Amino acid sequence: MNSQSGSTPASVTLPTVAILGAGSMGRAILAGLLADHVTVTGGVRVTNRSAERALDFDAEPRVTAWVTSTDETANRKAVAGAKVVILAVKPAQIAELAAEIADALDHDAIVVSVAAGVTCSTIEAALAGVGSVIRAMPNTPAAIRLGMTGLSAGSTASPADLAHVAEVFSTVGDVLVVPEDRLDALTTISGSGPAYVFYFIEALEAAAVARGFTPAEAALLAQSTFRGASQYALESQSTPQELRRAVTSPNGTTERAIATFDAADLKAVIDAATAASLARAQEIAAGK
Ligand SMILES: NC(=O)c1ccc[n+]([C@@H]2O[C@H](COP(=O)([O-])OP(=O)(O)OC[C@H]3O[C@@H](n4cnc5c(N)ncnc54)[C@H](OP(=O)(O)O)[C@@H]3O)[C@@H](O)[C@H]2O)c1
Repeated sequence: MNSQSGSTPASVTLPTVAILGAGSMGRAILAGLLADHVTVTGGVRVTNRSAERALDFDAEPRVTAWVTSTDETANRKAVAGAKVVILAVKPAQIAELAAEIADALDHDAIVVSVAAGVTCSTIEAALAGVGSVIRAMPNTPAAIRLGMTGLSAGSTASPADLAHVAEVFSTVGDVLVVPEDRLDALTTISGSGPAYVFYFIEALEAAAVARGFTPAEAALLAQSTFRGASQYALESQSTPQELRRAVTSPNGTTERAIATFDAADLKAVIDAATAASLARAQEIAAGK
C-alpha cells in the first residue's frame, strides 16, 4: 500500500539538508521537504550551476541557494553544517562533486546519491573516508509526493543513517531498502517505470484518437483509466491478475484485446525492456 494514501501525514522533523543539483529530481525531493508537515531544522540548502535556475528560490525563505557558475565554493558552502547531503547532478558528475565537497563535509554527514548506476564504493573513494554514503533511487512522481524510492547503504552507513535518509525520502512517497546489488534492478522497475507508464498512456491516447475521440477526450479517457486502475490495484485485496480477470469476460471485448497483447508477447517485451535498462546501468557503473 502507498504510505501517501489516506489521512494527513504525521509531522516529521529533519536535520539540515543540502541538495547539490536542484534540477528535476532535486526539486522533486525539495517539494517533499517543504511540505506543511515537514520541518527541516537549519533549513534546506540547494545549489545549481546557473543563476537563472537559482532565481526560482528567491521567494522561498526556507531555502538558501548558491550558484556554482558565479561562486566556485557554492557546493562547499551548501554542505557545511548539513547532516544529509543529496547529490542530484548527472551520474558522470557525481565522483567529481563528491571529491569537491569532501573536506567541507561535517564528519557525521550522510552523503546520498540519487544518480543511476554510480556505486557507493565509487562515491566513498571520492570522499576519501569522510561521512557515510547511501544510494537512493527515487522516481519523478516524487514531485507530487507519490514517489517510490529504493535505498541502499554503503559500507560505512549505520542503521541510524539509513533511518534518517528513509525519513527524508518518506516525505515524497514510499521507501524500500534493498542491498546495493539489487538497486540497479529496482531502478529498471520503479526508477524508469514512470516512463513505461507514460508510454502506455501515450499509446492508449493515440488509440483513442484513432477511434474518433478528440485529443482532450482521449487524454481524459486514458489518464483517468490509469489513475483509477492504479488506485484500485493499491486499495483492493485482489492481485492485479485477479482484477484483470474480473474485467475479462469469456469471449468478451477485453478478452480479444488481451489476446492481442499476448500474441505480441507484451510480457516478454516488458521483460526485455527492463533487462536492457539493467544492462545500461551496468555500463554506467563501468564508466561508459
Ligand atoms: N529524472 C529522473 O527521473 C531521475 C530518477 C532517479 C534518479 N535521477 C538522477 O537524478 C540526477 C539528476 O537528474 P535530473 O533529471 O534531475 O537532471 P537535471 O534536471 O539536469 O538536474 C541536474 C541539476 O544539476 C545542476 N548542476 C550541474 N552541475 C552542477 C554542479 N557542479 N554543482 C551543483 N549543481 C550542478 C544543474 O544546474 P543547471 O540547471 O543550472 O545547469 C541542474 O539543476 C541524475 O543523476 C539522475 O540519474 C533522475
